[in-house]
Parts: sequence; C-alpha cells; structure tokens
Amino acid sequence: MKSAPIIIVGSGIAGLWAALHLAPRPVVVLTSECLGAQSASGWAQGGIAAPLAADDNPAEHARDAIRAGDGLAEPEMLAWLTGSAVAEVEALADLGVPFSRNGDGSWLLSREAAHGRARVAQVNGDQAGAAIVQVLGAAVRQAGHIELREHWTVQALLADDQGRCRGVAASDRCGVTHRLAGCSVVLATGGLGGLYAITTNPPGNQGRALAWAARLGAVIRDAEFVQFHPTAMDFGVSPAPLASEALRGAGAVLIDAQGRRFMADRHPEGDLAPRAVVAREVYRQHRAGGAWLDGRDNPGVHFPQRFPAAFEACLRHGLDPRCQPIPVAPAAHYHMGGIAAGLDGRTGVEGLLAVGEVACTGAHGANRLASNSLLEALVMARRTAYELRDAEPAERAGPLPALRSHGELSPSSLASLRDNMSRHAGIERDARGLASLLEAIGRLEQACGPADSLITARLVADAALAREESRGAHFRTDFPQPAAATRSSFVTVSPDRFGNGGIGCAAGLTS
Ligand code: SIN
Repeated sequence: MKSAPIIIVGSGIAGLWAALHLAPRPVVVLTSECLGAQSASGWAQGGIAAPLAADDNPAEHARDAIRAGDGLAEPEMLAWLTGSAVAEVEALADLGVPFSRNGDGSWLLSREAAHGRARVAQVNGDQAGAAIVQVLGAAVRQAGHIELREHWTVQALLADDQGRCRGVAASDRCGVTHRLAGCSVVLATGGLGGLYAITTNPPGNQGRALAWAARLGAVIRDAEFVQFHPTAMDFGVSPAPLASEALRGAGAVLIDAQGRRFMADRHPEGDLAPRAVVAREVYRQHRAGGAWLDGRDNPGVHFPQRFPAAFEACLRHGLDPRCQPIPVAPAAHYHMGGIAAGLDGRTGVEGLLAVGEVACTGAHGANRLASNSLLEALVMARRTAYELRDAEPAERAGPLPALRSHGELSPSSLASLRDNMSRHAGIERDARGLASLLEAIGRLEQACGPADSLITARLVADAALAREESRGAHFRTDFPQPAAATRSSFVTVSPDRFGNGGIGCAAGLTS
C-alpha cells in the first residue's frame, strides 16, 4: 500500500527547511498565500544568530540566551541550538543565501540586543528573512518529492477515535473544502501577532494552530510570553514596519520628545538591554509623550545601503531617517509560547508535530534572544525531518474522520478581539484586565462559536492570569516582581467542553 504523504502546514523557514530535508519521502506543503509572500520569517530583518566569529563559541551564545530568557530558557535546548548554529548557516550559504561578508571573506556580523558581541549573520543589512525564503522557495519548487499547494487554507486537523492525527481539512483556492490524509502532520504556521491590534507579523498569523493542536489534546506551554518588538515604526498602521534591532546595534539610539536618551538611566545596557526591558520602557515613554529611534548619526548617510527595508518603509511614510528620528512603539512580534514540543517536533499527540515559532521547546524561555528564532526554526526543522524520514510511515486504515466546524470570526469580531488583546494582554497586564479579556472572549464565543482565534486568545489569557509574577515579556502590574521559583505554564483544553459547544482551558504552572 502506498503511504500517505507527510503534510506540512506553513511555508516559512521552518516549513520549507523541513520539507527539503524529508527527501525522498513524499511531502505536501500547504500554504494559505503564495510561497514567500506572507510569512513572518520572510519578513524577518535581523538574521540568524550563530557563533560564527573566530573568537566566539556556542557556550557564550547560549549564556546570552539563558540570561535573556529570564530564568525559563532551557540550557540543554540552547546547547543543542547554539552547537548546531554554524552548520545551519553554512548549509544555507551553500544553497545560495547571499550572507554579507567582510572584504576578507569572513562573516559580516550584526550586533543585536542582549548579545554580548556581534553575532548575527545578515543579508544586506535587513534582508535576511526575504533572501532565505527566496532561496528555500526556489529549492522547494524544484524538489521532486514535494507537492506545493498555494492558497490552500487549513481549517482543522482530523483525528481518529484514538486521538491520533490523521490529516487536515483545508480549502483550496476556489474555497472547496478537502480532507487530506497524512501519515504525519507537521505544523509550521508561525506565531500569533495577528491577535493584537498592532503587530509586525502578517495579519493572518493568529495562532490558530495552537487551537487545532489543543483540541486534539496537545499541551500549550508558556502561552503568556508574547514578545513585543520595541521599535516597530509608529505610523499608525498594522502590520507595522520594523526598525530592526540591528539599527541600535549599529549605533541608532532611543530618544524622547526632548531628544534625551531615555534608556541610558533605565538599564545598565541602555539601548541594547534585553528586548522585553526595552519594549517596556519604550511603551512607557510612548505613553508619556512619545519615543523615537534616532539614526541620524548612525547609520546616518549609510542608512539606505545598510538598512534598505527600514529606509524604504520610512520613505513610504514621508520620513527621511537620515535627517529625522523615526517614531516607534512596541508591536506584537514573536510568541515564545506554543505547542509543547521537543526539538524533534514531537507534541505528545500521535501523528502531530510542530516546528518553529508555533512550537515551544523552552529554548527562548520568557524572552527570546534576538535572531534566535530563525536558528531554532532551522535546527528543529532539520531534526524533525530526519526523524520522520527515517521512521516507518504510520499506516492508518479506515476512512478519514469528518470535519467538525467550530465557527468563524467576522471582521468586526476579530477587530474587537485584537483590541481587547492589546489592551489587556499586552506589555502590561493585571488580573482585572485579564478577567475582562476573558469575559470579552466569552461574549465573542456566544456570538461566533468557539472559533480557533478565540481559543488561542483564551490560552494566552488563562496562562497570563495563572502566572502571578513578572518575568521576561510577561509583566503583571499587580505582581511586579519575579517569583522565587521558576516555573513553566501549561494549558490544556477540555474536549468535553467542546461537546457542549463551549470551550474551557485549565492553566497551571509547574517546575
Ligand atoms: C530585528 O531585526 O530586530 C528582529 C529580529 C528578531 O526578531 O529576532
């Protein structure tokens, strides 16, 4: 009997890298857009953190990530990631990714916040994500073992009576729904910035895959840790263009309305403090009169060559960053939490794997170190692919399960959800706000049914309510200090409650 293909959902760097490494196993990649157009990794500016310099090493890289992770980053995960980093960057370079080099051929590395040194492999300043997705996309299109289905939108996972994942239900570009059998399903769908009013992510990234996986019994880990990028450009649009952290690494500084460098007296590392710290200070400064990123001296006249994407975004909004500071405000950027998984992508649900941002391995802890996300995506994708490639394909007999519909959010309901998430589960949270967010989610469930985005929002809110402390990207104004014990949060959804049409989550923290 011919085995069903491995289904990969998502076409960012994690999905494409996994697909390529699964050869010769048959793979179907489903992407709701056309390849490369709308993936968060394609929009990533900074690059890939790796100890590429002759005098750097994995242990120092891991040490910086552990410090940024504020007590929750797992050292074993980071040892694996940082130890694999150089090989992954070299593999991409071999495939044709045009990483920037110095005149002598050595790597041209950027510095980003909370890294003790320059360590980020970049492409032409801020073009890394786009360049990598372009090269991987071309390789995927040529690979004989991969069938690419663009404009296919997944609606749900299909599970059998034993709770094993058997495939997906997805609509094609004409809106016709199909049930596709897969011997395994790999989720590589990215994060959930699209649940917030202002995000740097593609707006469709609403974390629906967390809800799909949770409905099958997967555990969602550390969902409360949503990273806000401190220097999204504040032009009143979402998605907000990014002013890469590498700009601060190159000498741009944060200033207030009086031109004062406000980070100087708020953290010993000033503008290059860990991202969660800078995001919080920019948020406060924004409310107290505004915050700007001043690149007039550095990169100054070199702005167009060194940061072409950021430069063009400024020009599009009528601002020349060589002579005017850029207005900035934090925007939802990256989800440290996600479907609990090992670096091999295993989720605990048979037949279901998760790689990249949608997964939570513990590598980022409470606050991801800049440019470690593409690194994790690459390392996880390769390892997951090799394990699946080498395993005996699971043969499942019997017809595919039916699709159960869970409701859809109307545009106005989604706008209301985003507004509530930004207000109550943003940079600062408290019990009252989170309770009112949960009430708002409940009202939306009454109106629209337990739609995937609502379940995911509930997972974040429940975990944020359960964590009565401040740590990393999670700041509770009613519990402003970190707790003595460092614990991860785990949220599950009760399937029984689905039977009654409602949804419910059980959140808890464990060491
Ligand atoms: C940036 O370029 O500032 C974003 C990089 C990242 O999120 O790791």
